[in-house]
Amino acid sequence: MNILLTGGTGYIGSHTAATLVAAGHRVILYDNLCNSQASVADRLQTITGHALPLVVGDIRDTALLSKTLTTHQIEAVIHFAGLKAVGDSVKDPVTYFDNNVGGTISLLQAMKAVGIKTLVFSSSATVYGVPHYLPYDEKHPTGAINPYGRSKLHVEELLSDLAHADAGWRIACLRYFNPVGAHDSGLIGEDPSGIPNNLMPYVARVASKALPQLTIFGSDYDTPDGTGVRDYVHVMDLAEGHLAALISLSKGDSPIRYTNLGTGIGISVLQLVDAFQRASGQTVPHILAARRPGDLPAYYADVAKAKAELGWTAKRTLEDMCESTWHFQVTSRHANK
Ligand code: NAD
Ligand code: UFG
Repeated sequence: MNILLTGGTGYIGSHTAATLVAAGHRVILYDNLCNSQASVADRLQTITGHALPLVVGDIRDTALLSKTLTTHQIEAVIHFAGLKAVGDSVKDPVTYFDNNVGGTISLLQAMKAVGIKTLVFSSSATVYGVPHYLPYDEKHPTGAINPYGRSKLHVEELLSDLAHADAGWRIACLRYFNPVGAHDSGLIGEDPSGIPNNLMPYVARVASKALPQLTIFGSDYDTPDGTGVRDYVHVMDLAEGHLAALISLSKGDSPIRYTNLGTGIGISVLQLVDAFQRASGQTVPHILAARRPGDLPAYYADVAKAKAELGWTAKRTLEDMCESTWHFQVTSRHANK
């Protein structure tokens, strides 16, 4: 199948590209490079042995998208492109809605214009908001608690309306939990510019001594060790979840479905730090500090629907997540010297 990946040079997009090419698909990357580098396409060529076309463009450029869909005879789109920093979304909601919601509208217009109706959308566990119960299953009420989350929820609502208006669409909304880890090659991984917002890349930089210590946000939550609990899922498992979603869309008759992609296992910040120290052989100095505003104490996925509908379960362990992150950290540090 010819598949367009918006946001294809980003963290999750690049790993999914590697998985799709390995499964025999033809992948075209489309990205404005606002949070990734064109060199990712070269690294994907090294990993897969295939040249992956990269179209440098914005998803809000409907004309360029339409042209790309036609030129490359695209049959399905996986829509990763988006802005994802929760704090920035609070400061600048207009930019977030323009990019994430406006960008998706532009993509849907382009797809409609050329008659492509198969779409996988990068949604997030953040759409569930404050837990009414755990684990979150897909029937859990939605109620995002920040502009980033609301931008994802608005897109889900738009896609739901679209699927009701035209039953010819095949749409998968994949609600990712906390993606971490890297490809085994060490050539691609999560490499945020500046100081990382998220736990795993921060821990990796402390372990490599690029940052002096980790600040643990909150040690008085109602969790087993008092620190925040999340469902960390290996990015290569997530990538395989996209392949499974595409296969299931091609067989299914439902115009839209929503699926959690997580492991179902809650891991605390301290557990993750311990696992990383063991995997890397490095110490990760840390201090306990106040809670980060807006953080939830704990959440993790009910993964039964992913297994039943996509035939997908996460296979990789927390150890695999930490080892691959460390391997990428060491490899990319050498590459950048
Ligand atoms: P990322 O920032 O690494 O990748 C996103 C890519 O989209 C980047 O390469 C960026 O340059 C590109 N992009 C952004 N706006 C664009 C635009 N207007 N036009 C073209 N390209 C654009 O992020 P990621 O972690 O790979 O996330 C991919 C998707 O998954 C995002 O939509 C994100 O919201 C969602 N998601 C991520 C997480 C997470 O923790 N990483 C969790 C849940 C959902
Ligand atoms: N944390 C720290 N110190 C840090 C960074 C994080 O203690 O320096 C803690 C947080 O307080 C939280 C846990 O580590 O308890 C995980 O935090 P992350 O920032 O890594 O991830 P979040 O769960 O806050 O959010 C992430 C993405 C969101 C996405 C969500 C989906 O940032 O965009 O996962 O579950 F929506």
